[in-house]
Amino acid sequence: MNDEYEQEKARRQRQAREWRPGEPLPTIAYTPEEDALWETVTAKLRSLHEGVACAHYRRACESVVLERERVPQLAEVSPVLTALTGFHLRPAEGTVPVERFLGAFEEDGFYATQYLRRPESPYHSPEPDVLHELVGHAVMLGDPVFADLYRRFGQTAKRVSSPDALRALIQVFWFTLEVGVVLEGGRPRVYGAALLSSVAEMESLSQVDLRPFDIAEIVSQNFDDMHCMPVLFAVESVDHLVTELNRFLTRL
Ligand SMILES: [Fe+2]
Repeated sequence: MNDEYEQEKARRQRQAREWRPGEPLPTIAYTPEEDALWETVTAKLRSLHEGVACAHYRRACESVVLERERVPQLAEVSPVLTALTGFHLRPAEGTVPVERFLGAFEEDGFYATQYLRRPESPYHSPEPDVLHELVGHAVMLGDPVFADLYRRFGQTAKRVSSPDALRALIQVFWFTLEVGVVLEGGRPRVYGAALLSSVAEMESLSQVDLRPFDIAEIVSQNFDDMHCMPVLFAVESVDHLVTELNRFLTRL
């Protein structure tokens, strides 16, 4: 469908492409329909977070307070993150090449898209959109423990050179900071950005094949990011996650 939505999306992508470090982040004129979509979807996500988001996320939400009734601008959220953990947001025109995306974490940078999913599919986005970036990643980047994990991924991405090591790094990033689950009081709680920003993923959490956290299994696990995850890996605690990731990232 090459319609108004696509034209506006292309315009926003162009703004991101033309942005240079040091310049103010592009401001997007979101439409009233987009603000309404944001309000509806984030309200639904917030009610799910009460039941299934991990404690670190719920705490971080108190510091990274996102607008409820309109799409927040990256320029509003970025300084909040900088004050909390040193991270800043950079505009992304779409899916950024993985080395650049992960590598930016070393410089406390996070590439975030600014367009919003299509209005006719409010609960699904086939690619990362601003709702995923802010509700999922930005809130977690306000938590010092998780910000440090992002940073460690960035340092490792900059260091590794073999395709196998990069592939392993992407796998582990996906199954932790995108779709990771932690046990709290014996129950699965989500900390991964793709889960935290997806109504369907959180609603179907009880049907997932939840496996113990095992780096070797994670590295060889296939996944299709276009569908809900049939298999997820649960760490025993955030401390356990930090220990496991530091060991993996140091040895890679
Ligand atoms: Fe993501």
